[in-house]
Amino acid sequence: MEIRKFGSQGLKTSQLGLGCMGMSEFYGPGDDAESIKVIHRAIERGVTFLDTSDAYGPFTNEVLVGKAIKGKRDQVLLATKFGIVRDLTDPNLRSISGTPAYVASACEASLKRLDVEVIDLYYLHRVDPATPIETTVAAMGDLVKAGKVKTLGLSEVTPATLRKAHNVHPITAVQNEYSLWSREPEDGVLATCQELGIAFVPYSPLGRGFLTGNIKKFDDLAADDWRRLAPRFMGDNFQKNLNLVTKLEAFAAKKNCTISQLALAWVVAQGDNLFPIPGTKRMKYLEENIDALNVTFSKEELKELDTIAPKNVAVGNRYMEGAMKFINA
Ligand SMILES: NC(=O)c1ccc[n+]([C@@H]2O[C@H](COP(=O)([O-])OP(=O)(O)OC[C@H]3O[C@@H](n4cnc5c(N)ncnc54)[C@H](OP(=O)(O)O)[C@@H]3O)[C@@H](O)[C@H]2O)c1
Repeated sequence: MEIRKFGSQGLKTSQLGLGCMGMSEFYGPGDDAESIKVIHRAIERGVTFLDTSDAYGPFTNEVLVGKAIKGKRDQVLLATKFGIVRDLTDPNLRSISGTPAYVASACEASLKRLDVEVIDLYYLHRVDPATPIETTVAAMGDLVKAGKVKTLGLSEVTPATLRKAHNVHPITAVQNEYSLWSREPEDGVLATCQELGIAFVPYSPLGRGFLTGNIKKFDDLAADDWRRLAPRFMGDNFQKNLNLVTKLEAFAAKKNCTISQLALAWVVAQGDNLFPIPGTKRMKYLEENIDALNVTFSKEELKELDTIAPKNVAVGNRYMEGAMKFINA
């Protein structure tokens, strides 16, 4: 696995990361023991970039990742996030906070749950509309000065927010959704990251599992699966979006790869500054996803994929209504 320069603050990591969110919540039941084995196998295959958040579980995903990296801490670039405030009494309740007091307390809590002395990359998960980004990032910068985190990241930000933040403290990485059915970063964030020497971390590169061809009907989703509430998976939208999957499956068959590998390889092909973090809790998918690095495209093939999956090809928003106002902030 190729190790690359990650941002401009001295970090390096593998070109592919591992998203750990689904091991604890959102995409059907998980098995912690198996998830830990998946993380170990990822490290064995050279995947050194692990992604979690205090919001996943909530809270339990950080504990799981912390357990998995015991004795392996120095082998990984550990990234976590704060800012989406979960309520243990109701899994559906969320608020956003980026106040300096919350920044400090969230970091302490994550360090404890992860059981580490320092977080390599600490992201603001969502921008707090009630706190100026400069105030939040200055507080995050204090964590760097205190040695609690090494570098800073932002998630779901616009180029304008990114520039304001970067003026207060160097930003190492931006994590926004990017895949064959979510191409919004092409509207400016990718170019801004490139210009400022900031790593771009595409999240949900497999379209939250839709671009794997494994979800062909709504009832393929478990009763408590978060995607049942996501507009792209609901009602007519689901059927319409399957047209894209059918076309991608045909393309993958020509390339002798799986549709998951095609989707992931497309994200990888978008540049050396991109570090996608496909998520899985299964060994079989992990191996398949890492092997996607063997899939490359000619210019003609990339053009053909642009025709199959142009911007706005997906029917339906990425998030339900309440959450939409916190993305691209
Ligand atoms: N910053 C943010 O706001 C944000 C939002 C969402 C996610 N993320 C991060 O990004 C990571 C990745 O995103 P994601 O997990 O939402 O979506 P994803 O990587 O696009 O897709 C994950 C889904 O695809 C399935 N899958 C993975 N590989 C597969 C394969 N080869 N064949 C068939 N199915 C496969 C997984 O199944 P199993 O679960 O059964 O393994 C899971 O249901 C997350 O883990 C999280 O760390 C960040």
